[in-house]
Amino acid sequence: MTIEDEKRVAAEASVAFVESGMTVGLGTGSTVAYLLPALAGRQLDIRCVATSPRTAQAATALGLRVLDFREVDRFDIAIDGADQIAPDGWLIKGGGAAHTREKVVANAADRFVVIADSSKPVDALHGSVPVELMEYGLAATLRELASVVLRDVPRSPDGGVIGDYHGDLSDPAALAARLSAAPGLVDHGLFPPSMVHDVLIARGVDVEHRVIRA
Ligand code: A5P
Repeated sequence: MTIEDEKRVAAEASVAFVESGMTVGLGTGSTVAYLLPALAGRQLDIRCVATSPRTAQAATALGLRVLDFREVDRFDIAIDGADQIAPDGWLIKGGGAAHTREKVVANAADRFVVIADSSKPVDALHGSVPVELMEYGLAATLRELASVVLRDVPRSPDGGVIGDYHGDLSDPAALAARLSAAPGLVDHGLFPPSMVHDVLIARGVDVEHRVIRA
């Protein structure tokens, strides 16, 4: 089994949580790319909102009903990938620069399900944290945060500038609070355990189900 196979296995396991009548938040990324055909294949009567133009296009092409987020104020379920999953449920997301929209959707969901291959669980969060910054005052925001490296990628669909914060990740709650308090920072890729209900991790053909929040 390859990592790609595991992404598909985790994505396919997650569609068992979706039922007709639900409003579903769709994440972004290579794992979600396997979710979309699996969801479409179940032919349920569901309404979806996508966290990126990429996901919206793919979902629509597969026949899923994709609404504008202006038509929806909550989700029964949201399903998305992650870059790192800590044992206590903290996530790093935003490798694909979609973390701001993904967090709005995850927070509005009664149940947020994370799907991942076996490379995503970590003993402790490490590396860097994706951030989305306002163009306005960008130099001042970068000076305030001190250790953000801008990415050479297009703006977010909402016009934000994408970068990565490099620093101490040993206390994710403290770092999340510090980043959230910085004016000019739209949002960051640290997702707290309080936002996460289920984590499905594929290991070969098996799926480990971690319940983070009941
Ligand atoms: C998108 O910005 C990200 O948050 C993705 O959800 C995350 O990076 C996981 O992506 P993959 O499924 O491609 O690993």
